[in-house]
Amino acid sequence: MKTDFIRSFFPGLQSEWTFMDNAGGSQILQPVLDRILEFYLTSNVQLGATYQPSVEATGRVERSQSVMARYINAASPEEIIMGSSTSLLLRILASNLGKWFPRGSEIIVTDCDHEANIGCWRELEKSGFNIKTWKTDPVTLMLNPADLERLLSRQTRLVAFTHASNILGTVNPIRQIVKLIHSCGALACADGVAYAPHRMIDVQDWNVDFYVFSFYKTYGPHYAMLYGKKDILLGLPGNNHYFIGKDQSPYKFQPGNVNFEFSWGMTGLPDYFDQLFAHHFPESGELSGRERLAKVFGMIQEHENGLSHRLRTFLRTKPGVRIIGQETASENRVPTISFVVGQRDSESIVREVDKHKIGIRFGDFYARRLIEALGLAAQNGVVRVSMVHYNTVDEVDRLIRALDNIF
Ligand SMILES: Cc1ncc(COP(=O)(O)O)c(C=O)c1O
Repeated sequence: MKTDFIRSFFPGLQSEWTFMDNAGGSQILQPVLDRILEFYLTSNVQLGATYQPSVEATGRVERSQSVMARYINAASPEEIIMGSSTSLLLRILASNLGKWFPRGSEIIVTDCDHEANIGCWRELEKSGFNIKTWKTDPVTLMLNPADLERLLSRQTRLVAFTHASNILGTVNPIRQIVKLIHSCGALACADGVAYAPHRMIDVQDWNVDFYVFSFYKTYGPHYAMLYGKKDILLGLPGNNHYFIGKDQSPYKFQPGNVNFEFSWGMTGLPDYFDQLFAHHFPESGELSGRERLAKVFGMIQEHENGLSHRLRTFLRTKPGVRIIGQETASENRVPTISFVVGQRDSESIVREVDKHKIGIRFGDFYARRLIEALGLAAQNGVVRVSMVHYNTVDEVDRLIRALDNIF
């Protein structure tokens, strides 16, 4: 993979810093910035009027729905709800489902998700819902589908789980989990925030009912999208004014409307992947858009696995270092690598790394329940190194040299 070509799309990478806190927030793409500016300069007006710039603005926002629907393989643009953050979109979803599910229903949440996909569901307990917890296996540090099977019942209406953990890096078997959830008639809501920057999304293939991720961790601005199956969304009450119809999805879930310029900006994301395809696979002949995307993400996965393997191999040689997550396997793993060093305060390690102009991070990353369950809160959580495809082998080696001095 030609990392120089890839890095040329990210103006922020001109910096002297190495960015390895990408699960916190990634660098933004120039094609996304170009579209944001284009919107401001040529169609910065309110949607829905008859004059030409407004017609242009409306068309752009509508096109962004279609582009993102195609990007995640949704069946229809009405299934794409945009909003300021994953946390807010999940709250909007929970407020709708809380009114829709019968009282006394069960909801299952995990103990390893970011709190965004736990708290909004747990709060429904106050409205008479029964909340159960699907716990991370303490030995394998994985979510075991057999444990979920034991929790599911005919009363279960929803299971909220993470597609990839923002601490462990583990990718959970979403298709298998969704099938299990559907077998008892419940709905599946997956948090894809830690997955989306690394792999191709295919909501129809997975058959997931709701899927959410944040654009600021997927090479865009502080903005997010929620996918929901159309037949379910149409049945939900929505959060908008009384005169916004029940059939008006996604608008009924977007009170005050979306951020027009960021919606248009995100159409630069699939364009970027198409440019990567053209550059890396010039001899590929006629392929569909999904086939091109699959080839690009295949290449990205291979590169990321190489980076991840290099860092984990080093960490495993260091006495006292414990990787929190899958140590050896590169499959079913994104390059988010967390570790602790004996009982040492994780902050002290990260502060040393800061001096080398390498941005990593310590803490619980709002997956507080996991950090507490693992008994790591007292040492300030874990040290987390989170890489993406624009990181290089040289950068990993720079981090390894820095860590080698600190351990
Ligand atoms: C896995 C995961 N889910 C959800 C969120 C929340 O996303 P947002 O900041 O868009 O609300 C984060 C943010 O760190 C995250 O890492």
